[in-house]
Amino acid sequence: MAARALLFLSLLSPAMALPPSNITGLQQSLLDISDPTSVNYGSHLSKDEAESFAAPAPETVQAVNAWLAQHNVTSQTNSPSGDMLRIVVHVDTANALINANYTLSLDPGTNSTVYTTSSYSIPAELQPHIAFVYPTTKVLPAVVSNPKIRVVQAPKASNETRSSRSDVPSSCAQITTPQCLQALYNIPSVPATAAGNSLGVSGFSNEVANQTDLQQFLAVLRPDFTTGTFRAQSIDGGADSGPGTVEASLDIQYTTGIATNVNNTFLTVGSQNQDGVFGFLDIINTLLAEPQPPLVLTTSFGFDETFFQENPGIANTLCNAYAQLGTRGTSVLFASGDGGVAGSRSSDTCNADGSFVPTFPSGCPYITSVGSTEGNSPETAAQFSSGGFSNVFARPSYQTAAVEAYLNTLGDTNAGLFNTSGRAYPDVSTQGVNFAVNIAGKFEEVYGTSASSPTFASVVALLNDQRLNAAFNDITSGSNPGCNTQGFPASPGWDPITGLGTPDFNKLLTVVMAV
Ligand SMILES: *[C@@H]1O[C@H](CO)[C@@H](O)[C@H](O)[C@H]1NC(C)=O
Ligand SMILES: *[C@@H]1O[C@H](CO)[C@@H](O)[C@H](O)[C@H]1NC(C)=O
Ligand SMILES: *[C@@H]1O[C@H](CO)[C@@H](O)[C@H](O)[C@H]1NC(C)=O
Ligand SMILES: *[C@@H]1O[C@H](CO)[C@@H](O)[C@H](O)[C@H]1NC(C)=O
Ligand SMILES: *[C@@H]1O[C@H](CO)[C@@H](O)[C@H](O)[C@H]1NC(C)=O
Ligand SMILES: *[C@@H]1O[C@H](CO)[C@@H](O)[C@H](O)[C@H]1NC(C)=O
Ligand SMILES: *[C@@H]1O[C@H](CO)[C@@H](O)[C@H](O)[C@H]1NC(C)=O
Ligand SMILES: *[C@@H]1O[C@H](CO)[C@@H](O)[C@H](O)[C@H]1NC(C)=O
Repeated sequence: MAARALLFLSLLSPAMALPPSNITGLQQSLLDISDPTSVNYGSHLSKDEAESFAAPAPETVQAVNAWLAQHNVTSQTNSPSGDMLRIVVHVDTANALINANYTLSLDPGTNSTVYTTSSYSIPAELQPHIAFVYPTTKVLPAVVSNPKIRVVQAPKASNETRSSRSDVPSSCAQITTPQCLQALYNIPSVPATAAGNSLGVSGFSNEVANQTDLQQFLAVLRPDFTTGTFRAQSIDGGADSGPGTVEASLDIQYTTGIATNVNNTFLTVGSQNQDGVFGFLDIINTLLAEPQPPLVLTTSFGFDETFFQENPGIANTLCNAYAQLGTRGTSVLFASGDGGVAGSRSSDTCNADGSFVPTFPSGCPYITSVGSTEGNSPETAAQFSSGGFSNVFARPSYQTAAVEAYLNTLGDTNAGLFNTSGRAYPDVSTQGVNFAVNIAGKFEEVYGTSASSPTFASVVALLNDQRLNAAFNDITSGSNPGCNTQGFPASPGWDPITGLGTPDFNKLLTVVMAV
C-alpha cells in the first residue's frame, strides 16, 4: 500500500498539445463547406482529410520527441490526429523538462489533488512546437452550468392543436414546454426519418440523464411521442446511471422532446479527465475518433473567458478542435452563458475596471453560440443572456456586416468596456425561461441559456433531416444589464444578446431546400 501510494505521488502524466500543421487550410475548409453559396457547401471532410490539417508538422513531432529522448522519456499520442501527447514521468524529470517545481495541491474546481508549479519555462527552441502543457501553473476555475430552478405543479400538454407562431397556447406565458417551442418556432412534431441523423448532448460535472425521468416527461408533455429515448456514452468515467440532475435532464428532455425521433446520445464526461479543461478536449477527441460523429453537438457548460485570455494556447487548441469537428460535419453549439455582460453565471461580477467579461467557448468563431429570449408577444431578450465580444478571438469575416451595423447603431454606449474587434456572440437565440423539466421524478421550471442551446440544436437536427442555412424572428427588445450599465440593447438585425434572433422552422426550411 505504502509503495503504491509513493509511486502514485511521485509520478506525473503531463499532456502536451502540439499546434496544427495547417490551421489556415482547416479554417478555409470549414468556412468553404459552411457557406451556402460555395460549390463545396455541405461536402464534409473525411476523417483522414480533417486529420491531415490538424496533425502536427513532422518537424514538430521530431523536435518534441528528440527533446523528450534527451530525458529518456517517450510519448504516446492521445488524439486521432496526433496533436495531443501524453508522457508519464517522475516529478524530478517533469521539473527538469520545463524548469518547474511541481508540488501537489488541491484543485478546488474538482476537489482533487493536482500537480502545479509556481513557474515553468518551455525551452525556447521548442516553444513554436508546443501549444500548451498541462498541468503547469494555473488551474482552470470550475466549469459553469447553473441553470436556475423553481419547483412547479406538474404541467399538462395543451389539448389544442397549434401550428403557427401567432397561435401559441396561453399556458406558455407561465411554463415552457416542447409544445410551446413547436408553436413559437413552427417546429414540426412529425418524427424525423433520415437514416444516420444524430444529435449529441454533452454532460460534465457528474450530470446524470435518467431514462425514467424522460419517459415521464414525454408521457405528460409529448403524449404523441412517448417512445423517445437516448443512449449514454461514458467518457473519462462519466456517470451513466442514477437519479437525474438538472442540466442533463433539461438537455436530454428538450432534445428528445423537440428533435422528434433523431438518434440522441448523452455524452457524459467524468472526473477522470486530464486535459486541464474538465474533459472539454477529451470529449471532442473522442468524437473525432468516431467514423460518424453526431451531426449536432449541444453543450450547456462554459467558462468566463478570463483564464483563456491568460492561456491562449489552450483557447486555440480547443477552438481548433471544434473547427476540426465542424469540417467532419458536426454543428457545434454552446449556450452563451447566464451572467449578461458580466460573464457565464448569474452571480458573476464584471472586471475590476468595470469592463465586461466575455464567455468561452462562445468566443470561438467555429461554434454557434446560443442566447436566450423570453415572452411571446413580443418575444424579448432575456436579461441574463450573456453576449458581447471576445478578447481572444478576432471577429471572423462572416460577422463583418452584421456586427458593424450594430456597432454603428450603438454609437458610444458602453465604449471602452468591450473589445470592438473581437468575435461577437451569441449567433442566435431561443426561449430560455420557465422550461418544465422532470428532475428525479419531480417537475421543476428551469431558466438559462442552458435551455436555449438544446432547443436550437434540436431545430438544427430536424433541418439536418433536410439541410441548413438562415431565417429568423428578429428580437428587437430587451437588454442584458450589468457592470453598472444597461448592457447591450437588442436591436434590428444581429445584436450581442440574441444574435440573429430565434428560429422559424418553415422559413429555415425554405432556405435550406433552395440550396
Ligand atoms: C494548407 O491547406 C490548403 C488548403 O487545402 C492548401 O492549399 C495548402 O497548400 C496547405 N498548406 C500546407 C503548408 O500544407
Ligand atoms: C538516460 O539513460 C541513460 C542510460 O540508462 C543514462 O546514462 C542517462 O543518464 C539518462 N539520462 C537522463 C537525463 O536521465
Ligand atoms: C520549490 O518550491 C518549494 C516550496 O515552495 C521551495 O521550498 C523550494 O525551494 C522550491 N525549489 C526550487 C528548486 O525552486
Ligand atoms: C472534497 O474531498 C474530500 C475528501 O475526498 C471530502 O472530505 C470533502 O467533503 C470534499 N469537499 C467537497 C466540497 O466536495
Ligand atoms: C381542452 O381541454 C379543456 C379542459 O380540459 C376542455 O374544456 C376543452 O374542451 C378541450 N378542448 C379540446 C379541443 O379538446
Ligand atoms: C432513474 O432515477 C430513479 C430515481 O429518480 C432511480 O430509481 C433509477 O434507478 C434511475 N435509473 C437509472 C437507469 O439509473
Ligand atoms: C444511433 O447512433 C449510434 C452512434 O452513432 C449508433 O451506434 C446507433 O446504431 C444509432 N442508432 C440508430 C437507431 O440509428
Ligand atoms: C481585443 O481582441 C483582440 C482580438 O480580436 C485581441 O488581440 C486583443 O488583445 C483584445 N484586446 C484586449 C484589451 O483584450
